[in-house]
Amino acid sequence: MHLLLVHVLLFATTPLQTALTVALRSKFTNVSYEHNTDYFTRMKSWLTTEGYLNADVYVDRSLPPTMRTSITVQFQIENSRNYHTLFNYDVDTCQSVKSHTAGSLPSLWFRNVRKYGNLSAICPMKAGYYDLRNFHVEDKSIPVYLRPGNYRIQDTNYYGKNNAKARQRRLVSTIILQMQLY
Ligand SMILES: *[C@@H]1O[C@H](CO)[C@@H](O)[C@H](O)[C@H]1NC(C)=O
Ligand SMILES: *[C@@H]1O[C@H](CO)[C@@H](O)[C@H](O)[C@H]1NC(C)=O
Repeated sequence: MHLLLVHVLLFATTPLQTALTVALRSKFTNVSYEHNTDYFTRMKSWLTTEGYLNADVYVDRSLPPTMRTSITVQFQIENSRNYHTLFNYDVDTCQSVKSHTAGSLPSLWFRNVRKYGNLSAICPMKAGYYDLRNFHVEDKSIPVYLRPGNYRIQDTNYYGKNNAKARQRRLVSTIILQMQLY
């Protein structure tokens, strides 16, 4: 986080920034997910050949109104299996979905998800079928300070206290995406 801030500050004070910025493109290269069968009848997620994300989600009963979302973005260290954590957010899901203030990464994320389906249209989600089609990170919304390479995005929905005692944290669903910026 600290390194990233330094990076942002350096870039922000460089007048040549715009001239040097090459717009990056993104594609998802892998997806894996898990869901709590107390809440979902079924969930399916897959990537298209363009590297876009699709999902079919069958909610069995209303998701907990106190649900929280934790989003972690990591950068894969070159020629290594290790990742360096760039961002980590933990927010009240519904507050963030309803939030109209731009800026925070989670609300930007939810707004993007909403554009490509009806997954985050209502909060908390009620029983029913929801879909997501051709979801991708649009070129213009890729922060200029991100470098080309492989990223890992984990979005976990849970309820209960988020503390060291993991058993107090109940998983609702989680999705792990590998993303390539090039
Ligand atoms: C995709 O991710 C899953 C879970 O991390 C892993 O088991 C699988 O090998 C990955 N597939 C590819 C093609 O990298
Ligand atoms: C979400 O959209 C799909 C089709 O795109 C539709 O079949 C489904 O009924 C919608 N779900 C809700 C809860 O409105």
